[in-house]
Amino acid sequence: MPNSDETYEYTEDFIAALQWMWGDGYLSPGGPQEVAVLLDGLDLTGCDVLDIGSGLGAIDVLLVQEHGANNVVGIDIEPPLIEHARQRAVKAGVAEQVQYRLVEPGPLPFEDGSFDVVFSKDAIIQISDKVALYQDVLRVLRAGGVFVGSDWLRSGEGEYSDQFKEWLIAVQLTFDMKNLEQTRSALERAGFVDVKLKDRNEWYRQEIKNELATLSGRNYAELIKRIGEEKAAHRLRSSTLKQRVVERGELRPTHFSAHKT
Ligand SMILES: C[S@@+](CC[C@H](N)C(=O)[O-])C[C@H]1O[C@@H](n2cnc3c(N)ncnc32)[C@H](O)[C@@H]1O
Repeated sequence: MPNSDETYEYTEDFIAALQWMWGDGYLSPGGPQEVAVLLDGLDLTGCDVLDIGSGLGAIDVLLVQEHGANNVVGIDIEPPLIEHARQRAVKAGVAEQVQYRLVEPGPLPFEDGSFDVVFSKDAIIQISDKVALYQDVLRVLRAGGVFVGSDWLRSGEGEYSDQFKEWLIAVQLTFDMKNLEQTRSALERAGFVDVKLKDRNEWYRQEIKNELATLSGRNYAELIKRIGEEKAAHRLRSSTLKQRVVERGELRPTHFSAHKT
């Protein structure tokens, strides 16, 4: 089994709490339904797909089983997550079609034109040099390929509000957030065309109520049993602070799609 080395950002207790809120195999909100919405009718049949920040891997299994992908390569920087994801693919019987690779942050370790689709769900927020990443995504895509996914963006620019800073401290992850216009212009500067962004702040305002409901009441007692009182209280506080910045319109989960000519 993967270990619970506290030097990783995603410790085993943190992973347990996130799945508690977001479902088995998910480190981001919305589950299979949100993945279907962000793919927005994009047909993955026969496609070779790269998933940047594959986490626990549930989405990669889904891309093959529900969305017809031919092959998916998931990359992540945390060894325990890669191990969890590999076990999941084996259990789901798709290990031949879904592979995982541990990578270092930085250039993508793939040949030019390796993929039809590059996908990413809520992971680019953790990568600082977005322009370099987007240029590299363009490089590994085949002509006519698509970069599609979701990222957590912010409103405005410059210093965060005090409320935003409070949430960022509580969340305990390395985040580097851009706004919608910065994201559009970085994708276009990298060479993508037909760039589309869809703000999901309204959706997340509703969704986060379910998150908080899951974390409270009888479920909260179960979470305490699973990860202990201190960590459960921390999760509840972190989600409550997140709800505040979602409602203030400062945190803006956003779907994107961009094409290579
Ligand atoms: C919020 S999680 C989302 C995981 C998964 N996409 C999901 O939706 O369940 C973000 C993931 O990105 C990974 N990550 C962070 N920086 C990365 C990088 N430079 N390259 C690849 N993955 C990265 C993290 O380890 C984590 O698994």
